[in-house]
This record gives sequence, structure tokens and C-alpha cells, in this order.
Amino acid sequence: MALAEFLAELDQLQADAQGAFQAAGDAESLEAARIEFLGAKSGRLKAVQKGLGAIGKDDKPAAGKHFNEVKQAIDAAFEAAIARIVPFHAEGRTVSSGAAALSVAKSMQARGTSQSSGQGTLTVDPTLPGWVKNSPNGARLENKLRLGHLHPITQTIEDLKEIMGRLGFTVAEGPEIEDERHNFEALNIPAEHPARDPLENFYLSTAQALAKSAGHVTIAGEPPLLLRSQTSTVQIRVMETTPPPVRIISLGRVYRPDTADATHYPMFHQIEGLLVDRQVTMADLKSVLRLFASSFFGGDVHIRFRPSFFPFTEPSVEVDMSWNDRWIEMGGAGMVDPHVLKAVGYDPEEVTGFAFGLGVERVCARRHQVTDIREFYKNDVRFLEQF
Ligand code: PHE
Repeated sequence: MALAEFLAELDQLQADAQGAFQAAGDAESLEAARIEFLGAKSGRLKAVQKGLGAIGKDDKPAAGKHFNEVKQAIDAAFEAAIARIVPFHAEGRTVSSGAAALSVAKSMQARGTSQSSGQGTLTVDPTLPGWVKNSPNGARLENKLRLGHLHPITQTIEDLKEIMGRLGFTVAEGPEIEDERHNFEALNIPAEHPARDPLENFYLSTAQALAKSAGHVTIAGEPPLLLRSQTSTVQIRVMETTPPPVRIISLGRVYRPDTADATHYPMFHQIEGLLVDRQVTMADLKSVLRLFASSFFGGDVHIRFRPSFFPFTEPSVEVDMSWNDRWIEMGGAGMVDPHVLKAVGYDPEEVTGFAFGLGVERVCARRHQVTDIREFYKNDVRFLEQF
């Protein structure tokens, strides 16, 4: 056989074997790949090795050398697959390296266990509890592996999505770094409005200026950017790209330079809701909020509207919910202002809509009777473990 042909055959074999070992997802498929490529009797490596005899004397050293390289590469791929699939010996002894894993596999093979499927093969029982044997300094810690859980704010977000999903609202996402059009202008917040005061917002201009002076590429005349101060930005982003009707919620972080206290933090989460369709009224808004509050808090929660002002809703209200005989302020809401509908190309004669924005920390704190929202961000596990 010509040398070139032999070498090509070896390369093909290596590629096939590596592919098969990488693709193996469990002990069975790994074992099948091992037999196919490394099987002692009729494995493909063995078959190619036989071809070595037919190579001319002068080419033998080169052929032999490449054969050994390919064999090593295939062995390594097999070892890596074992280390990935068989992290533990069947008796629970930790297998620390690929080589050890290989010997485990080999010893199990020698005992004939790997040929049988099911029990005794190279499998891990994922239903067994995890075990932590030792602390880093060697002292015995505890037996049970400690399971974590989702942060209470994340749990609340998941619950809110689930409840609003049942009312037909899908989830929309928006960026946390916003331009002034989406954070203010399209929301009918004019340039002189106090909410646009640089001291009331986290503008990125310092960061933008620094990037420019550091020679990073910036677009000339780039509009100022800021960390969004409200999730109402997503109302605009959704309406800009979707013709009515729309029915969405958006949950995420918002940023305001507030001094942290029991009810304020410079970063917090909001849930925004938006429904635009024909003949939507305040009654729909109140019904949705009431259904939502009853589902979240349980029981018959009442909703109270107090007159308020937001530039992007008309009329605007503050939303209170009754809870243990008290009224709790939950956020703002109202009918989408016709100016906003126009700004996104909707016809205010054709469709109307409502929007609301509630504080996620507030509903979460209320539900769990947490009195200081700063606790949510300290990441003290003694606090977080309770939820
Ligand atoms: N975006 C308002 C805020 O952050 C809340 C709001 C949302 C009010 C939607 C009305 C409609 O205070």
C-alpha cells in the first residue's frame, strides 16, 4: 500500500474515533464506540494496523510513527470521554483523573460488567443524594450536599410571569442601557421635565467620553445613553415593532440615583404591563390588576386607584392593593396617552390601551413580610435561606 494512502486512512480513523467518543453521551454508547475503534479483535484501529505490514520497507518508519500518534490521540479521546461520562466509580469512590477512570473502566470490563447493560455498567445514579465529604482544610464538614435555590426576587419574577401568562400576557425584553427616545421622548416626557434631570438619572456620558478619549470607536454625534429609569421603555420598543393588538409584560432592572433606605435602592426591579386593543378601558385595567393581585397574594385582594400623573398615561393613577386591612402602594398605571400611541405609529382613534408599572421588590417584600428591601441585595445566605 502506498504511504500516502495509509496515512490518509489513519487520519480518517482518528477523526471518526474522536467524533464518536465526543458524541458518546452515556456508558453504553461509549462502550460501543470503544469496541468499534479500540476493540482488540475487530476494532478499526486493529484493522488499519494490519495494513502496516503491506507498507514498503523505506516508508515503514514514517507509517509506524504516524500510527502511534493516531493511536495515542484515539486513546486520549477515549479517556476524555470516560472522565466526562464516568465521574464516579460505581461504589462511590471518587475517580480523580482520566487515567484512573480508564483503569476503572478497564477493571469493570475485565470483570465482564461493561458488556451487560443496566446494573453494574459505567453508570451514575443521578437520583442519589450528593455528598460533601471534606472541607478544603480536610476537616469533616457534613454529609448532605447543600442545595441552593432561586433568589426571592427571581422567584417573584417567575411567579409574576406565570400569573400574567395565564391572563394572556407574553414576556417582552428590553435593554438596560437606553437612549433618550425610549426612556423619555416617545413616552411624552419633554426635555425640560424634571425626570430628565441628569442628577435624577444614571447617564453614561462620562463612560462614553472616556471611551472616546481612550480611542475606542464611537459614532460621531452619538446620542446620550443612560441606564433605564423605568421599564416603560419596553412599551415603546414593543409598539414600535408590533402592530396592535399587543398584550405584554416586561420584567427587569431599572436604575435611579436614590439613596438606599428601607424602601429605596439605586437599582430595583419593575414589572411593566401593556395591553393595546380596540375599546380597552380603565375597567379592564382594574380587573387585570385585581386578578393579578388575588393570584399572587391569595384571597380576595382589592385594588384602589388614586389620581396621579404620568406623562405617558392619561388618565394616570397610583395603584394600591389591600393587604391585611391596609392599603399598600404598588406602583403606577393608566390609559396609554394618545401622544404615545401616535409616537409609535398607532392610531389613537382606532385603539386604546392601558399600562402599569409595579415594583417587584415591593410585592416580594409584602408577600414575605420583609421590612427592608436592602436585605435582598446583601446576599446573606441566612436571610436568603428563608425563602
Ligand atoms: N413607569 C412608571 C414609574 O416608573 C410607572 C408606570 C408605568 C406608570 C406604566 C404608568 C404606566 O414610576
